[in-house]
Amino acid sequence: MTSEHGSDSKAPKQIANVMNETRVFPPSGEFSRNASIGSMQAYESIYNHSIADTEKFWESQAREHLHWFEPFTKTLDWQEPFAQWFLGGKTNVSYNCLDAHVQAGRGDRVAFHWEGEPGDTRTITYAELTKEVSRFASALSKLGIQKGDRVSIYMPMVPELPVAMLACARIGAIHSVIFGGFSAEAIADRNNDAQAKLVITADGGWRRGKLLALKQTVDEALAKSPSVEHCIVLRRAGNETKMHAGRDLWWHELTANQPDDFPAVALDSEDPLFILYTSGSTGKPKGIKHTTAGYNLYAKRTFEWVFDHKPDQDIFWCTADCGWITGHSYIVYGPLSAGATQVLYEGAPNWPAEDRFWELIEKYKVTILYTAPTAIRAFIKWGDHHVEKHDLSSLRLLGSVGEGINPEAWMWYYNKIGGGRCPIVDTWWQTETGGIMMSPLPGAIACKPGSCTKPLPGIIPRVLHADLTDVGTNEGGMLCIEKPWPGMLRGVWGDDERFNETYWKRVPHMYLTGDNARCDEDGYYWIMGRIDDVINVSGHRLSTIEIESALVSHPSVAEAAAVGRPDEIKGQGIAVFVTLKNHAPDESIRDELKKHVRKEIGALAVPDEIRFTTMLPKTRSGKIMRRLLRDIASGKQSVQDTSTLEDFSVLAKLRGDEEG
Ligand code: PRX
Repeated sequence: MTSEHGSDSKAPKQIANVMNETRVFPPSGEFSRNASIGSMQAYESIYNHSIADTEKFWESQAREHLHWFEPFTKTLDWQEPFAQWFLGGKTNVSYNCLDAHVQAGRGDRVAFHWEGEPGDTRTITYAELTKEVSRFASALSKLGIQKGDRVSIYMPMVPELPVAMLACARIGAIHSVIFGGFSAEAIADRNNDAQAKLVITADGGWRRGKLLALKQTVDEALAKSPSVEHCIVLRRAGNETKMHAGRDLWWHELTANQPDDFPAVALDSEDPLFILYTSGSTGKPKGIKHTTAGYNLYAKRTFEWVFDHKPDQDIFWCTADCGWITGHSYIVYGPLSAGATQVLYEGAPNWPAEDRFWELIEKYKVTILYTAPTAIRAFIKWGDHHVEKHDLSSLRLLGSVGEGINPEAWMWYYNKIGGGRCPIVDTWWQTETGGIMMSPLPGAIACKPGSCTKPLPGIIPRVLHADLTDVGTNEGGMLCIEKPWPGMLRGVWGDDERFNETYWKRVPHMYLTGDNARCDEDGYYWIMGRIDDVINVSGHRLSTIEIESALVSHPSVAEAAAVGRPDEIKGQGIAVFVTLKNHAPDESIRDELKKHVRKEIGALAVPDEIRFTTMLPKTRSGKIMRRLLRDIASGKQSVQDTSTLEDFSVLAKLRGDEEG
């Protein structure tokens, strides 16, 4: 991976630190007293013990915290960059999430309080969830789905979404959940890359009062997905749905007479659990691969540590969609392994009104809320009166994920939502890391707004200059992780070379996160953004290349470059620079291009701004200089090195009068 920031020899060695946040918020005495890790000394003792011998630490964690059909004989096999954890062991993630609780007499505990966007509800206990997963796993198995087969899941946030994931896990099929906002093209790409045999979807889902005809989108995708043999359709919205004879099957018919005690298959620790596609800086989306035991252990323990989870008291609500890694690790696998009771919500935060979240917190007496900075910024914009209508006193802990949280949004979250009494766990991690890597342990580590604070047990971060020397205190550099950990990705689906190139080649013997960070004088980490070109819209990574490719696939577009620009609500917005072939730069083509991107990728990737230009700034070798475009898009005078620019006149044109 060539990174424009990190590898530019003319750029200053140190990445500027422009943030100076000095406020510190320790947990209350009461919070610390009740926490399982309740002081800085306790954290340091666990952390120091964990890194003195990481393998030994993870070995004892795995023996204690997972169910083993057969115990493992070797903790780690590390053939850089390929790690295998807990070899020789046999376990099953769905067993750990379900059967383990039922066997221990906790079957009556509520797993999900589900609320549909229109207001319909369901309460599902661990015993009921186990039965439902069993029936669906049995149905999958009878349909011919076997261990190792890939299954795409494209569903709304209904209980059947986790059921489908857990049923795959129960029989060893590998799921690939595709976020319900993606287009037919994106689904087909993912089906084809994974060579999926089955797609699970629903007739429709609800979003902001509108019906999304999911099955219709899947039909379009299936016309271009030759590997897919069957499509299972859940009846959710009741909209008219065409079924293709021989290919499509209704969920309710398929599961009607299935046994509810279908056993979990004993799987090898390293059998793949899922693939999750995420955007990379170059080329098509990467299928990030996670496997069974290591991922399960990491999701479970990080959930328990970071959220100081108390199974008999807490009501946990993670507002993410299961289509993202946050939903995988902190709705499905982490919380269920830990026996948590959760709220699961189908719809939008502003439907039917902007107080929906606060209404749900009051209704279900949520104690822990885990959401994203982009949502927090929207809440701030919608106004405090929506919050003030509701009793949020059940909350004891707040969390944030997906991107950096601006200190002012942090303060609002802390005061308005947390009533000044709830610590905020700002959790830094990635699809690739499987679970949270850095975060305050809320009873132990005082928060600083905007900092993800300290590494979790077993995790050793390092920050390096582009020349691979260690940075000093408060100096920004590339964030790397020194040792393998159980939740780490095991590869990029079907592309070992890309796995190696992206994460392991640039910095020898370390995992390259792709983020920049600094560490302050108290050993607190501050994430400074991505090294590469990925645009983070509302906490979701979109690669410039995907957006550009979508634009260029329009007949009128010659060339396109996409960059992120600051956006108050979404974190980053998308600005694109487009060169047209045979069309005047006017409003009609601007609208057409937006529609085109929506169709090709999905609503998330629709540019906020389209600028027309007769040429793009490029290096002599023909590489588009996105750094310059970023400055222009955010209205800054460029301070970048332009010496490699091919044509200097292009800059003046771009800043000035070229807009259509
Ligand atoms: O740049 C970091 C940012 O999101 C990236 C990971 O994106 P994704 O794989 O989609 O996973 C999002 C959910 C874990 C990171 O490389 N990021 C995530 N959390 C934070 C963050 N940046 C700053 N602070 C965070 N807490």
